[in-house]
Parts: sequence; C-alpha cells; structure tokens
Amino acid sequence: MINDDLEAVLLVGGQGSRLRPLTIATPKPLLPTAGVPFLAHQLARAREAGAGHVVFATSYRAAMFERAFGDGAAYGLCIDYMVEDEPLGTGGAIRNAAGALRGGPDDPVLVLNGDILSGHDIRAQLALHARAEAAVTLHLTEVTDPSRFGCVPTDADGRVTAFLEKTPDPVTNRINAGCYVFRRSTLDAIPAGQVVSVERETFPGLIAAGETVMGYADAAYWLDVGTPEAYVQGCRDLVLGRLPAPAVSGVPAPALIAADAKIDPDATVGGGSTVGPGATVAAGAEVTGSVLFEDAAVGEGARVVDSVLGRGARLAPGVILDGAVIGDDAVIEEGNELRAGARLWPGTHLPPTTLRFTPDP
Ligand code: GDD
Ligand code: MG
Repeated sequence: MINDDLEAVLLVGGQGSRLRPLTIATPKPLLPTAGVPFLAHQLARAREAGAGHVVFATSYRAAMFERAFGDGAAYGLCIDYMVEDEPLGTGGAIRNAAGALRGGPDDPVLVLNGDILSGHDIRAQLALHARAEAAVTLHLTEVTDPSRFGCVPTDADGRVTAFLEKTPDPVTNRINAGCYVFRRSTLDAIPAGQVVSVERETFPGLIAAGETVMGYADAAYWLDVGTPEAYVQGCRDLVLGRLPAPAVSGVPAPALIAADAKIDPDATVGGGSTVGPGATVAAGAEVTGSVLFEDAAVGEGARVVDSVLGRGARLAPGVILDGAVIGDDAVIEEGNELRAGARLWPGTHLPPTTLRFTPDP
C-alpha cells in the first residue's frame, strides 16, 4: 500500500566526526544545506513518497533535532522523536524507533540513513518491495570504491545474495545506498534494547535465513555527505539543480543568496554557492561553488572557491580559499592562502603573512 499512511524512520544518531570542524557546534544532519537543515531534504523526499509520519532515531545531541523540526507541521509531517540513552547502532536505533510507529505487521516502513542526498524514486522502491513481498528492500547504487560501504551482490532477479559491510574485497561495485523498506514485522524482530548493526547482523541474518531481501538498483543522483568535500559538493548540486531540491525555493540558480545577505554589486557569486543570512561579500571578491554560513564576511578582492566559511568567520581583503573549511568565528588576516584540505578550527585567528607556500614546479 502506498499512500499518506507511509511511515518513515530517520537515522540521525551518528557523530559526524569526519565533518569536523563543521560539526563541532551543529550535528551533521542539521548543517545548513542549500539554505535549509540537511534533513529537510530527506523529509521533503519522504513526504513526496507518501510519508505522513516520521520517527527520528536520535542519540547524539537529541534535543537539537526537536528544536529544529518540532512536531513536523512546517514540513507537512507528523514527527516523533525516539532517543537512545546510549547509541544502539543502526539496528538497535531502528528497533527503538519502532516504539513510536503506528502501522500493522505487514505495512512497509521506510528507513533512511540521515547523511545521504539521493534523487532515487522511492515510490518505485516501495512498489518493488510490495511486488516481491520482501522482508526488506534496499536501495543500491554504484560507486568506484565500494570498500568504504556495504557491498551488496544480487542475483539476476534483483534478490540480494550477500551483505558485506566495509569489506576489503568487494565482489561488486554495487553498494547499500542507505535507504531501506522494511516489512514492519521484520523490523519488530530485531532484538530490543541492545546494540545491533543492520549491516553486520540483521541483513546477513535475514539472507542466511532465506528471507526475501531485494535490491532496488538504479543510477540516480546519490551522495554520502560524510566529508567536508562531499558536503560542499552536495550544496552545490542542490543549488545548481543536479538533483531535485523540493525543500528549497529559488533553485536551480547560479547561487542561493539569503534575503538579508549583502553582496557588493562589484562582487561575483556563482557556481552553486550558498550565501547565508547576514553574510557579506565585498567589492571585487569572488565566491564560487562555496558555502558561506550566517554572518560570514568576505573582504574586498578575496577569492573563495569550493570552500566553507563558518558562522561569523571573516576573511580580510585578498585572502584566497580553495577547498578549505573555516570554522565558526575564525578570522583570517591579509596575505593568507588556504588550499585543498585546509581546516581551521572555530575561533582561530590567522595573523597577516607575507609568506607563501610554493609547491615544486
Ligand atoms: N540513532 C542512531 N543510533 N543512529 C545511528 C547510530 C546509532 O547508534 N549509528 C549510526 N547511526 C546513523 C548515522 O547517523 C547515519 O545516519 C546512519 O545511521 C548510518 O551510519 P554511518 O555511521 O553514517 O554509517 P556509514 O556511512 O559508515 O555506512 C552506512 O551508510 C553507507 C551509505 O552511505 C552503511 O549503511 C553502509 O552499508 C552504507 O553503504
Ligand atoms: Mg554515513
């Protein structure tokens, strides 16, 4: 059955440690992404697929989620929050969230990893799940390095034959894309109140027991927003329209600029950049493919490419950022150039410099 009664669980208990320094003050699922909290994109997609009730499975910084999303009315959803005192792993979190679900034993439950941007057709995944009368149906995508993900081989009928989480010897490039449809009774069979991994225990166990586990494979837009580089890319792709952004108005566009941001007429802002509320870009500055958080300030003639400038961070005139991530309230004085991989912790003060790092020719 696909209608507004569809229920969804959003897994948002992880720490987002690889996204530091961005996630020091804000959990990864709440990072402003094309002008809205990251999860707003997933909520909009779940809504479009027919979800009316969403349960957040939280542990790390649980209260911040409730503050950000409330009862869900602003998103056309009813949102409940289930908090783990200690993180219970992906399976334990799903089982814990089941306490707030309302449906019957045969109803489908959509489960989403909280750090994925995906353009896939969730309704088609639900339809395959219903047609195959599956216990679980996994969305699968292809990546060049499957060893960092759950490797998921299937047979000719799309039935999953194994689930190999982060194996050094992947047997296929097809991986778990982090969006599942569970039959409610399958989800209820996960042991309660203990740490369980769906990837390492539940899925391999279901396959070994001969249950029908299906793979819904496609080539739609898919991105795991686990690193600062991927985060910047995701923001850029949403603004430029490389994946649908039902949660944002005013895109696709060359840039998404908050109403009260101040961009000098002689500045250039484009390439899918996002400029947050109260942020300023001075004359002659160039901002390309980047994210400026609230109240960030870019000085005259500065160049910001594929970078993130945290809340209230300031760049002096002429500073160059390329592939850099600058924490909240950091200040970078004149003469500095920060290139790929550079990270500045919140509040750092980089004094003026005349030194230049010149790579070997
Ligand atoms: N509530 C709760 N409690 N949520 C959790 C917990 C927990 O103890 N542990 C992880 N999560 C959430 C994370 O916040 C994230 O949204 C999701 O579960 C997956 O956890 P990650 O820590 O992000 O896992 P991963 O990225 O290494 O791997 C997962 O995602 C890949 C796709 O991006 C696995 O599902 C892989 O199989 C998959 O390929
Ligand atoms: Mg992840």
